Amino acid sequence: MADNSILCSVSSLILSLFTLFSCLFGHGNSIEQLAGYNTFTISSFKYPETQIRPFDMRYIRVDLPPWFSSMSIALKSSVNLDIKSVENVPKSALPMICFREGSLPLPDVSNTSFGVALSNSSFEGTQVLQNSEQCYPVSRNMTMKLTNEQISARVLYFGLFNGVGPTRTQSKMIVRGPSYSFAANISVEGCITSSMQGQYCNQTVELLSCGLSRNNSGNGSASGFFNQSMLSCSNNFVTSCLGDEEMKIYTLEILRVAEFLTVSAENVRLRPVNNSGNGSGIDLMCFARYGAMPSATLHDFSGNLNKSPLVINSPKVGQWYISILALNLSKETGGSQSNVSKVCYSLELQELECPLGKAGPNCLSERYMLQTVLRKDSTPFESYFLPYGEKVMSDAANFLLEPLLSNYSFGGLDTWTYFILDIPHGAAGGNLHIRLTSDRKLNYEIYVRNGGLPSLVNWDYYYVNKTSNSHGSMFFALYSSSEEKADFYILYVREGTWNIALRNLNSTDGTSNRQTTMSVSLERCPKRCSYHGDCKSALDASGLTSYSFCACDRTHGGFDCSIEIVSRQGHIWQSIALIASNAAAVLPAFWALRQKAFAEWVIYTSSGISSGLYHACDVGTWCALSFGVLQFFDFWLSFLAVVSTFVYLTTIGEVYKRAIHTVVAILTALMAITKATRPSNVILVMAIGALALLVGWLIEFSTKYRSLSFSMDLCLNSLER
Ligand SMILES: *[C@@H]1O[C@H](CO)[C@@H](O)[C@H](O)[C@H]1NC(C)=O
Ligand SMILES: *[C@@H]1O[C@H](CO)[C@@H](O)[C@H](O)[C@H]1NC(C)=O
Ligand SMILES: *[C@@H]1O[C@H](CO)[C@@H](O)[C@H](O)[C@H]1NC(C)=O
Ligand SMILES: *[C@@H]1O[C@H](CO)[C@@H](O)[C@H](O)[C@H]1NC(C)=O
Ligand SMILES: *[C@@H]1O[C@H](CO)[C@@H](O)[C@H](O)[C@H]1NC(C)=O
Ligand SMILES: *[C@@H]1O[C@H](CO)[C@@H](O)[C@H](O)[C@H]1NC(C)=O
Ligand SMILES: *[C@@H]1O[C@H](CO)[C@@H](O)[C@H](O)[C@H]1NC(C)=O
Ligand SMILES: *[C@@H]1O[C@H](CO)[C@@H](O)[C@H](O)[C@H]1NC(C)=O
Ligand SMILES: *[C@@H]1O[C@H](CO)[C@@H](O)[C@H](O)[C@H]1NC(C)=O
Ligand SMILES: *[C@@H]1O[C@H](CO)[C@@H](O)[C@H](O)[C@H]1NC(C)=O
Ligand SMILES: *[C@@H]1O[C@H](CO)[C@@H](O)[C@H](O)[C@H]1NC(C)=O
Ligand SMILES: *[C@@H]1O[C@H](CO)[C@@H](O)[C@H](O)[C@H]1NC(C)=O
Repeated sequence: MADNSILCSVSSLILSLFTLFSCLFGHGNSIEQLAGYNTFTISSFKYPETQIRPFDMRYIRVDLPPWFSSMSIALKSSVNLDIKSVENVPKSALPMICFREGSLPLPDVSNTSFGVALSNSSFEGTQVLQNSEQCYPVSRNMTMKLTNEQISARVLYFGLFNGVGPTRTQSKMIVRGPSYSFAANISVEGCITSSMQGQYCNQTVELLSCGLSRNNSGNGSASGFFNQSMLSCSNNFVTSCLGDEEMKIYTLEILRVAEFLTVSAENVRLRPVNNSGNGSGIDLMCFARYGAMPSATLHDFSGNLNKSPLVINSPKVGQWYISILALNLSKETGGSQSNVSKVCYSLELQELECPLGKAGPNCLSERYMLQTVLRKDSTPFESYFLPYGEKVMSDAANFLLEPLLSNYSFGGLDTWTYFILDIPHGAAGGNLHIRLTSDRKLNYEIYVRNGGLPSLVNWDYYYVNKTSNSHGSMFFALYSSSEEKADFYILYVREGTWNIALRNLNSTDGTSNRQTTMSVSLERCPKRCSYHGDCKSALDASGLTSYSFCACDRTHGGFDCSIEIVSRQGHIWQSIALIASNAAAVLPAFWALRQKAFAEWVIYTSSGISSGLYHACDVGTWCALSFGVLQFFDFWLSFLAVVSTFVYLTTIGEVYKRAIHTVVAILTALMAITKATRPSNVILVMAIGALALLVGWLIEFSTKYRSLSFSMDLCLNSLER
């Protein structure tokens, strides 16, 4: 500022007007910034123009720290589609952008409707769903702004696809369909102070601190609580007061897996005190939300604290936001004539944690932390998980379940056993594989949840039996399961803590003579691409996450190559048709034979044969030689055939023809070995042919008009022949 004013006073007369203007302008701007948003840019990425070929994809990872306020993305693409034409484009050629919290979106979008926000190219105001992804067709100009009231994730993945559905992964020799390119700017804004949050960083947020209060005084055996840790969280017993329809927001971080969290308001009273009302009619609404700011319309849990405490079972590990809203204040105190204006309360939060190795409603169940064991020679990162402790003496990648089971007969018949594992950052491109194999009918149900402990009503994925499981979820893939076996994958598993709960249905049914092995592993491609493809790996655009996908063979598609796209019979007919089409080479070969052009005949015939062999291999019927060799021969011979025809048509002497032939053979071989499949080759071959014709014609022309000077050569030539 000081510099500015000096500049203003010193500036010459002519410039003064302009400078004054700019000073005022700058001044006004800074005031606006101070009064406005208390935000700063945490990160800003610019993704330069990138081409996405048909069936290709690109992932972008965006990290969002807890103090982020909003994220904006501006995307420009070469796609030229309007809303009406989108419906007519087949899904296998539709440019799509999908996003998902915590992990990568799958390109195999099933028929889950993606037409939601089709109508507007700007998709502001979407609520990101946790166990699904959202997809939109890419348009020419897209802008999106997601605020921390909308996203609760710490990491967000965008996927740009050119075509979705099972045919995407099918391997194709000739890839048809339009490419498109995109460029994007992504920036993340954050709040300057942690006590001010929200979209505009103008919402005061009070930090709650939690203290441990171990309770051993109660009669444990009677209530079922043993040695549990009760964490009390409060704003240091400060009384808060709210006016009518006023809202206050608190935040609390849960560090470890907890059984439940209760929120209660103590000491609810009116201020100033009025005898006619005791405050029991006031609604003290509480909205709780994991990872994001709650509101009356957007929250995970809600309740009226003036009626009963709010209980959140198995809260997820991480940041929680709790807002308290006072309602019906004026009604309770009898309208506007009352001088009562505020309701006061003390917020009490209690979080119950079980001791180490225990979990469950009564802290009676066993809980095992699983250790990650890196699989040998695995690139990229593959691992399996084993519980550590003396109960496991296994070198294998699986373990016996029975010795680990919880053993109690408290309450109902079923007992629960918990396993906890961690999926590290950047491992989201892998798939979590869970298997349970028993020597008799399986009597376990599996519930899996990210962040918190799963229960009968609270899970992300579950498996009860072959018919009852999370089969509808696109991230759940079930394989070869039977009564004795459960085998499923969680595709592109979210980063963070995962909890696996086993519900033992009938623990009285002698578990001792049962043998069940459990295996949990993080794998690259589900079921080794069903033995119908190769597992490929790539990095996302930020280079932080490596993801894997299957490149399937000609007849299969889908994320795991399990979908047969071309039936066996159809495949055979396709092969026959393709190979037979090369019989067209018979005609020119026959013609060459009749002309006694044996060199051309050899080229046409071998070109036809090599093309047939190449296509047979390409279709996957039979490979006579390695694919590369066959491809080279096919392209080279067909190039040579075309150019030879041109050369044959010239009417020059054999000596020159042989020379041109040799040059052409070298050139076409060079073309075939470098980039055989590029489209410009057709033009190049034609050009070489035409050049050969031209050279031939020139030679002929010059020989005619300089026959005298060349007569010696020609004489020699004819003598030689
Ligand atoms: C997808 O389509 C199939 C048949 O077309 C239907 O059975 C299935 O319920 C659909 N799934 C969803 C999620 O809409
Ligand atoms: C698109 O968005 C604008 C602004 O949000 C809105 O006014 C308009 O009605 C929307 N168009 C459609 C078709 O929904
Ligand atoms: C893209 O959209 C933004 C915001 O809607 C607008 O400011 C910009 O001019 C648009 N650009 C083009 C090239 O249409
Ligand atoms: C990204 O920002 C640059 C300027 O920083 C701008 O030139 C470019 O057009 C932007 N790209 C998109 C896709 O908005
Ligand atoms: C925060 O700022 C926005 C926009 O300036 C405004 O609508 C909102 O009421 C403000 N919230 C608070 C709590 O001041
Ligand atoms: C300890 O537990 C008992 C019984 O569950 C309860 O009555 C008592 O209030 C608890 N004490 C504390 C300090 O939480
Ligand atoms: C705990 O409760 C049981 C019965 O519920 C009772 O017999 C026992 O004396 C109690 N123990 C203590 C320490 O209060
Ligand atoms: C509670 O903890 C004490 C010592 O920390 C231990 O001796 C006792 O066995 C524990 N009780 C239960 C039921 O785990
Ligand atoms: C209490 O509220 C009543 C109206 O409900 C009002 O008439 C009275 O003056 C208030 N008393 C005090 C002490 O404020
Ligand atoms: C509050 O007042 C209502 C009637 O207005 C009464 O029923 C209730 O018992 C009172 N509660 C307390 C705690 O005094
Ligand atoms: C699978 O579980 C469901 C729900 O528990 C049950 O209704 C169904 O009969 C079971 N199916 C089989 C084959 O056991
Ligand atoms: C549990 O096991 C007992 C003893 O083997 C058996 O009688 C009972 O039918 C089983 N219950 C269920 C629900 O399988």
